[in-house]
Amino acid sequence: MRSEFVFTRMAEDAAKEVENLKVDGEVADVVNPWEVTTSSATGVDYDKLVERFGSSKIDDELIARIEKVTGKPVHHLVRRGIFFSHRDMHTILTLYEQKKPFYLYTGRGPSSTSLHLGHLIPFIFTKWLQETFNVPLVIQLTDDEKFLWKDLSIDEAYRLARENAKDIIALGFDVNKTFIFSDLEYMGQSRAFYRTVCRVQKCVTFNQVKGIFGFGDSDCIGKISFPAIQAAPSFSSSFPEIFNKKADIPCLIPCAIDQDPYFRMTRDVAPRIGGKKPALLHSMFFPALQGAQTKMSASDPNSSIFLTDTNNQIKNKINKYAFSGGGATVEEHKEKGGNCDVDVSYQYLTFFMEDDAKLAEIKKTYTSGELLTGYLKKELIGILQPLVAAHRERRQKITEEEVTQFMTPRKLIYDY
Ligand code: TYM
Repeated sequence: MRSEFVFTRMAEDAAKEVENLKVDGEVADVVNPWEVTTSSATGVDYDKLVERFGSSKIDDELIARIEKVTGKPVHHLVRRGIFFSHRDMHTILTLYEQKKPFYLYTGRGPSSTSLHLGHLIPFIFTKWLQETFNVPLVIQLTDDEKFLWKDLSIDEAYRLARENAKDIIALGFDVNKTFIFSDLEYMGQSRAFYRTVCRVQKCVTFNQVKGIFGFGDSDCIGKISFPAIQAAPSFSSSFPEIFNKKADIPCLIPCAIDQDPYFRMTRDVAPRIGGKKPALLHSMFFPALQGAQTKMSASDPNSSIFLTDTNNQIKNKINKYAFSGGGATVEEHKEKGGNCDVDVSYQYLTFFMEDDAKLAEIKKTYTSGELLTGYLKKELIGILQPLVAAHRERRQKITEEEVTQFMTPRKLIYDY
């Protein structure tokens, strides 16, 4: 019970308590929907997290099975262990083999006008899943969550949701298979969705959400009931118009592992409301520019590269802030070599450089000291500038009509 609380307590309490919170004699990493921090320069200890959260590691056997069932190589984010943990992925693969339907569900809490590179990770992978399995996708924009947690008006939260939808649409999701919705908008329209929320709310006590999320007596009641709203899209009964009134279609949720507390709760509630437990695929965190002790986060603009950043901003942020695992001087670097385990530019390359051979060569020559930090940063800038510029261009072309089209409830095509 104590260790569960360690991982799920609220951000505001985290800093002052971290000294005292120990698991097996060690200060535990803090991983919850509001905060990710660790004292280790190499980042969160994901093996321990899998153990504590009770999920399963994505192992070679699962990867081989995904490749066999889909007939194609897995995405490099899986191959490189960035998507590293799952719940019930074997069940999803069995359904696919049997040509039985399932759908994808992911989301975004619109707290800034644009997404940052870290947010891209689950969305890039979700797009690959949609294309590979040819399944429908629902994307929840939790503007209500951001209204409750941040200093944002309702109107501003909804505006940000529509702005964020543009970033998501620009990634190339198929409009015939994708429904994006704002909670503030859709909750008022859908009888079925609100009914699912109420069913979930009835199954979870205040004591339980205190244990899972660390809510306290002074938190507003909106926060306390919010987890039921993030749980609801896990059940196809929430979307009768989309799934042709089929209430029992299983769901697969790709996300970073910070969102897992919501879905541990959801999986616990599922059988009690006659629903199926959602399956999950968890990713690691894209680190902050300053180092892997925290994740890239929209609440700290200097930690983040946003999808609206200009080429110059990208270059300056990387050159100024990206934590280097290199030596203090060129001489020291050449003598001792660089440390890829803590070097943020190298870490970013593992997410975005698709060429395995080139990445391996960079690792080898940086570790030996032959390659300097400046070169590594240049290489990264050379990948990120065109990637973000192409995204910016696609995003600029997204019209309000297109956003409305994606956000209109309608039957999604699934032809498996
Ligand atoms: P949000 O907006 O904090 O994050 C959106 C998605 O991005 C992931 N993420 C990251 N992944 C890698 N590295 C990072 N630095 C990083 N920061 C964020 C998150 O895990 C998430 O997948 N409450 C949610 C919105 C939501 C949702 C969902 C997310 C509603 N339903 C279902 C996932 C699945 C939120 O505020 O996400």
